[in-house]
Amino acid sequence: MIYRKFANTDIKLSQLGFGAMRFPITQQYDPTTIDKTKAETMLHYAIDSGVNYVDTAYPYHRQTSEIFVGKALRGGYRNKVYLATKMPVWLVKSKEDSSKYFNEQLKRLQTDTIDMYLLHSLGKNGWKTVNDHNILDFLDKTLAAGKIRFTGFSYHDELPLFKEIVDAYPWTFCLVHLNYVDDHYQAGIEGMEYAYKKGLAVIIMEPLRGGKLANNVPKEILELMEQTGRNQTPVQFALRWVLNRPEVSCMLSGMSSLEQVQENIRFASEEHANTLSPKELQLYQAAKEFYQSKTKVNCTQCGYCMPCPQKIPISFILELYNDACMYNATRDSQRMYRVFVNSEYRGNQCIECGECEEKCPQKIPIAVTLKEAHRLLN
Ligand SMILES: NC(=O)c1ccc[n+]([C@@H]2O[C@H](COP(=O)([O-])OP(=O)(O)OC[C@H]3O[C@@H](n4cnc5c(N)ncnc54)[C@H](OP(=O)(O)O)[C@@H]3O)[C@@H](O)[C@H]2O)c1
Repeated sequence: MIYRKFANTDIKLSQLGFGAMRFPITQQYDPTTIDKTKAETMLHYAIDSGVNYVDTAYPYHRQTSEIFVGKALRGGYRNKVYLATKMPVWLVKSKEDSSKYFNEQLKRLQTDTIDMYLLHSLGKNGWKTVNDHNILDFLDKTLAAGKIRFTGFSYHDELPLFKEIVDAYPWTFCLVHLNYVDDHYQAGIEGMEYAYKKGLAVIIMEPLRGGKLANNVPKEILELMEQTGRNQTPVQFALRWVLNRPEVSCMLSGMSSLEQVQENIRFASEEHANTLSPKELQLYQAAKEFYQSKTKVNCTQCGYCMPCPQKIPISFILELYNDACMYNATRDSQRMYRVFVNSEYRGNQCIECGECEEKCPQKIPIAVTLKEAHRLLN
């Protein structure tokens, strides 16, 4: 395993971290049914092979990931890893809630210290909650009490707010979405460089876009990969782009089988930063442009269209629609639509009031597009 510096501390993180969000499950569509035997084998194998960062969160596997990780780290494994979890900021409704959730997380994880504690999924609303309920004050006190070693935040919103949050508190690290297609999405490369220059360690999530850059890869992308002259799988092609960036401390992968753990560990044990040639970087650019050319709707996920009077999760449905078309992932998007969008709030429930279209900065014909999306996804 290759290790990288964690901000200005003495800590070195394995450049591959274990994301505890996609363990194998025994019943399709029920994330609470973690296949404990397989998942424990995967986690132990990873730690035995040098992975020293495990990232979980309160809601993962519908609140069963932390409990599973706590059990799986018994027997000496807890001391071999830096354990990260995240405060479910959206559940915090009072000052007392911060410590209520934190204490529950300590219990679930069977530990008295969280090494890396993040505020989960910050964006406009989350940041407001943080300020309304003095969550930064809670972080200060919990750090001082030695129950947290380092503080960070994960982020899902636009770049300007990301920079504001970086500057608002002495964080040690941040967790951002980055892959070769989404290099200018949310915080993106610019956000990563900004945080890094300010001394934060940068951890990456969704390096394979949740698996979309690994599965059903179109022949056009395979041809571009071939032109690199390297013998590599689509997974390696995508992970290499992330690890090429020297700003990255650790890249998380939510692996869902032992084979994936083995492949990613092999790769992360050999791959260094700054190895991509200018020609290869151009090929990544072409691969990104190919995916983008398949974009169905020019939605940037800004969320200005929301809230919908019919409570339709417009931007989420448009994202599923785009994903289906861009990544040959219709079945994945259909599954997400079925699981996450209640039938009362699906695209066919749009009453064409036009409120969202007035607010959309991209001028997307949302009413028509929601109906098209529904036809594909339902
Ligand atoms: N804080 C936040 O807001 C937030 C949000 C998202 C993620 N995260 C964290 O970041 C972690 C990483 O994100 P992610 O899970 O989306 O990572 P990812 O690497 O983009 O996607 C993981 C998926 O990629 C596929 N995959 C991984 N390795 C593979 C291999 N060797 N061969 C083939 N397929 C492979 C698997 O898909 P299949 O299952 O389809 O095979 C796996 O489920 C998460 O697990 C979580 O801990 C945090």
